Amino acid sequence: MAGVPVSDRPRFDTVRSIFEDGAVGRTVRLRGWVLRGRSSGGLLFLVVRDRTGSVQVTAKRDVLGTEPFERAAQLQLEGALQLEGTVATDPRAPGGREVRPTSITVIDVGAPYPIFHDQTEEFRLDKRHLVIRSQDHVATFRVKAELLAAFRRFLAAEDVLETTPPILTGIPAEGGAEAFQFDYFGRPGYLSQTAQLYLEALLVPNERVYALTPSFRAEKSRTPRHLTEYLHLEVELAWCDLDQLMDFMERMLIAAVTDVAKACPKELKQLGRAPDELERLAVPFSRITYQEALDRLKAKGFDLAWGADLRTAEEAALTMEERAPIFITHFPKELKAFYMLQTPTDARTVEAADLLAPEGYGEIIGASCRETDLARLTERLVSTGIDVAEYEWYLDLRRHGSVPHAGLGLGVERVLRWMLRREHIRETTPFPRTPSRHTP
Ligand code: 4AD
Ligand code: MG
Repeated sequence: MAGVPVSDRPRFDTVRSIFEDGAVGRTVRLRGWVLRGRSSGGLLFLVVRDRTGSVQVTAKRDVLGTEPFERAAQLQLEGALQLEGTVATDPRAPGGREVRPTSITVIDVGAPYPIFHDQTEEFRLDKRHLVIRSQDHVATFRVKAELLAAFRRFLAAEDVLETTPPILTGIPAEGGAEAFQFDYFGRPGYLSQTAQLYLEALLVPNERVYALTPSFRAEKSRTPRHLTEYLHLEVELAWCDLDQLMDFMERMLIAAVTDVAKACPKELKQLGRAPDELERLAVPFSRITYQEALDRLKAKGFDLAWGADLRTAEEAALTMEERAPIFITHFPKELKAFYMLQTPTDARTVEAADLLAPEGYGEIIGASCRETDLARLTERLVSTGIDVAEYEWYLDLRRHGSVPHAGLGLGVERVLRWMLRREHIRETTPFPRTPSRHTP
């Protein structure tokens, strides 16, 4: 249609408009894909889907004419078409309405569609580029888009500046073992595990910054909550202590989750989450120390020595009966990254807070105050076995206008997994990257 002014091009209606008040009797033009289809004698029943929904289309050979009818009857599942017709009521059709077409144009008849029920998970992952057309995936990725928009709205309202840190880096920021390394013109390069160190640099002079970028983890863990590539929302705030940081995280999560519950009730229900469960998360979220977590775990039959990490099983046990997220604070410093601020009153722990999602889903945010003391920071780098020379630029930040600051990293897919009650985190991202797969 090149050359035809936009205003003169044929207008198409949305499926949604068919279900509006007063639509019955209207002539509509639709375009979309075949979600289901069957023909019997001179009748063809199609369910046609566009971005706004799906509607039954009942075509008659008598009305379309034999040849156009036969062409339309060849349409496969996921074949593409456009049509013109009249909206009618039909109590047997989903939503009580259908379209009776006067013409159907086949855009792509489609090859036999290879996706159906009861196929193996491996096959479905091989065909992921087609599987993501499923109603559940469509709903999931709408919620994801809404969640990202909600985070951005909250951060803009809180006067936090969006920034764009790099993905290709010269040092692993979060622990060398789990960094993807590659050859950067003869020198080692790493895919970013966290934007944090760059956000700390951008903190001055902006004071409040964030980034929403992919992070990469070369973790071989085959668990339902690990991806090798995930979307990371990271915020860094100047003049912020641990309590203020937890207040911020709580506000951010409540704002985002409430917005999504209001914007996507249909999608949430479809995926098995009642929107009001998300709208009435009790605040404040409970805040317990690592030590208190160990005590709670002991009562549940887990006997962990001080210094032991909380793994998936422990996090699940701590949150299984919770209805809202909980904070765990003041971890032993050996469990956490080199940049975390030592607790002023206890040299064994750091000013860190993990936020765990309820119902057994576990860690969704990792947060901490950052060490500002140059000597202690250097010492922590050395004891972690890191080459200090490579972190010189980062140490510079402690030499020029260093101020108390704190930050957080939120795993977007982890949050969605909990919100949407998905068994596996891969269902929250269209093309999941895991140790066993990076295609399609
Ligand atoms: O706890 P992590 O490793 O913390 C950091 O990277 C900090 N530097 C962030 C910061 O303070 N700016 O990761 C943060 C969050 C986790 O809480 C989790 O939600 C998510 O990132 N995450 C993963 N999500 C999916 N798959 C993985 N393999 C993940 N690893 C971490
Ligand atoms: Mg963590």
